[in-house]
Amino acid sequence: MKLLYGKRLFEGSYTGDLFFSMPPIETERLVLRRLEMNDAPDIFNYGRDPEVARHVLWEAYESVSESRSYIRTMQRRYRLGEPSSWGIELKSEGRVVGTIGYMWYQEEHSSAEVGYSLARDQWNRGLMTEALSAVIRHSFEVLHLNRVEAQHELTNPASGEVMKKCGMQYEGTLRERLRNKGRYVDVALYAILRSEYAARSHRR
Ligand SMILES: CC(C)(COP(=O)(O)OP(=O)(O)OC[C@H]1O[C@@H](n2cnc3c(N)ncnc32)[C@H](O)[C@@H]1OP(=O)(O)O)[C@@H](O)C(=O)NCCC(=O)NCCS
Repeated sequence: MKLLYGKRLFEGSYTGDLFFSMPPIETERLVLRRLEMNDAPDIFNYGRDPEVARHVLWEAYESVSESRSYIRTMQRRYRLGEPSSWGIELKSEGRVVGTIGYMWYQEEHSSAEVGYSLARDQWNRGLMTEALSAVIRHSFEVLHLNRVEAQHELTNPASGEVMKKCGMQYEGTLRERLRNKGRYVDVALYAILRSEYAARSHRR
């Protein structure tokens, strides 16, 4: 099985060319684009906030070298064509305020999981809904996936709101699916199918 996880939990690697192209995607207020090394201070600025890290599987950064290391990991994935993330650049300020991208991709099932995070000073402005809608569009219209998943800890309902607003359906709760910062946590699984995306696009 070709299953790629961010932390390479499984053997085998995706050898197609789907993720070589992580083209910039422009929305009303954002540009999703490949991360560059000079984004490290911006990423450190929000990544050191324990509130931003609370419901994700990485620890809050303690130094800017940790954000450089994250960027190096993404740049290696861009080069290898592996599932990776875009930086979320705020057009009005030209700074990176978050990331969004693919956690894994299953070639034989045409499915992938999307994950994201955003600087606290930008929460509740609809920005992640804007970014996730664009990534869902890219997933179906450019990558031709059949299913896009996302999951959030039950204690992080704002993330579920983002998924719902983007047309994803709640599929169930997976008990203690993850261990986050030493505690087992329940997660809600959401997904949107190609057929649902097509019906939604048709209605608009
Ligand atoms: C979760 C996160 C991505 C949301 O991004 P955002 O840009 O603030 O999301 P949006 O503004 O598009 O939408 C948030 C929605 O959640 C709602 N919301 C906020 N806090 C809430 C809460 N405690 N309970 C329920 N809903 C909540 C908002 O009202 C809004 O819904 P509305 O537009 O209907 O009013 C952002 O808070 C974040 O990055 N958090 C830290 C990292 C993280 O948790 N990543 C996701 C891991 S699954």
